[in-house]
Formats: sequence, C-alpha cells, structure tokens
Amino acid sequence: MKFFVDTAEIADIKALAETGLLDGVTTNPSLIAKSGRKILDVIAEICAIVPGPVSAEVAATEYDAIMREAAVLREIAHNVTIKVPLTPDGLRACRTLANEGVMVNVTLCFSAAQALLAAKAGAAFISPFVGRLDDIGQDGMELISDIVTIYNNYPNFRTEVLVASIRHPIHVVQAAKLGAHVATLPPNVLRMLYNHPLTDKGLAAFLADWSKTGQTIA
Ligand code: G3P
Repeated sequence: MKFFVDTAEIADIKALAETGLLDGVTTNPSLIAKSGRKILDVIAEICAIVPGPVSAEVAATEYDAIMREAAVLREIAHNVTIKVPLTPDGLRACRTLANEGVMVNVTLCFSAAQALLAAKAGAAFISPFVGRLDDIGQDGMELISDIVTIYNNYPNFRTEVLVASIRHPIHVVQAAKLGAHVATLPPNVLRMLYNHPLTDKGLAAFLADWSKTGQTIA
C-alpha cells in the first residue's frame, strides 16, 4: 500500500519525507487556502521534496477552463498529478489528459458508479472520501470494498483506489485489508500509525535493563 500525505504544509511534508514512508502528496483547494500560499509556489516546492505523484487540483468546473488550468499545473513538474472533480466536465478532461499521458486523480467520489466512470475515463487515481461518508451515517469502507471488487473484475482498468478523507488509523488498516492501492493521510494520522502503548512500555523496560549492564554498542 502506498502512503500519500494529504496536506499543503511544507514543514509536515519535509518531516514525513524523511521517514522514507512517503510515496506522494495530495492537496485540494481547502488545503491550499489553509496554507495561505500561492498554489503554483506550494506545488513546485512539494514536487521538489517528494518524487512521487503530487496532486494539484483545478478550481475550474468547465471543460475548457479545466484544460487551461491543467496546462499550467502540469508545467510545474513532471510528478504533478492533475486532480479534477467527479463531474461530466471533470471526467471529460480526465479522458483528454489521460490520452496525453498525464496522471489524473478524480476527486469527490462518493459512489461505486462514479468510480466506474473514473476508471473508464482513464484516471490514474480515484479518490473516494471515506470520512465524509461516515460523517453522514454511511459506511465509507463499504464503498472502498465495492470499488476494489469492481476494479478487480476488470484487469484492463489501471485506476488505483486512493482512499481519501481518512480520519484515523483504523481507516488505514481497513483500507489495506481491502486491498486499496493508496491511502492519503493527514499528517497526524500518519504519525498515529507508529503508536502502541506496549511498544513504549517494552522499550522503557529494555532500556532500563540495558543501562544496568553498563555496556555500549557504538
Ligand atoms: O483531499 C481530499 C480529502 O482527503 C479531504 O479530506 O478531511 O477534508 O474530508 P477531508
């Protein structure tokens, strides 16, 4: 399973890149707004830190305008992935861009039918939002299960399931059990994955015993 981080905060991206666990980055208009910076500057900086796919989302909603914005975004770096909304115009742009060899991340997916359309449009990634479905009393993971099943039925689909709107480590584990290709994690959730109280307790005991030996290794 690939781990992307869902943020536009450079300090977080730098720190997480150092872990060696980061395969890519996703951003969206809200995350760019939160950063308080210009999208072109932020995406360029992220692409220089992380060699994997970096999703930059268009703000346009009509085909021609989406294509114009995509042309600007894809100039930033070779690893920019163009993120488009799951709308008729977004999917049309997805098809055009995919035909030109551009990686596209189709976002705001809330149903299996929508995910099927994105695969047919040649998306590199489909982003189903599990947390936002959970928020309205629907089971986000059931959607992941459905999409994985559907995509597995058609080996000619190359679209990877990128689980988005993740809120906690259980989402990540469940997505991995279902065979989703990618999880995009808020930085705090990625850090939470390390944690277990028995790890902390066990390490403290080992170190206490070790200090009694008076030995050093290096
Ligand atoms: O970037 C898309 C997605 O991960 C947003 O998550 O937390 O705003 O629902 P959230």
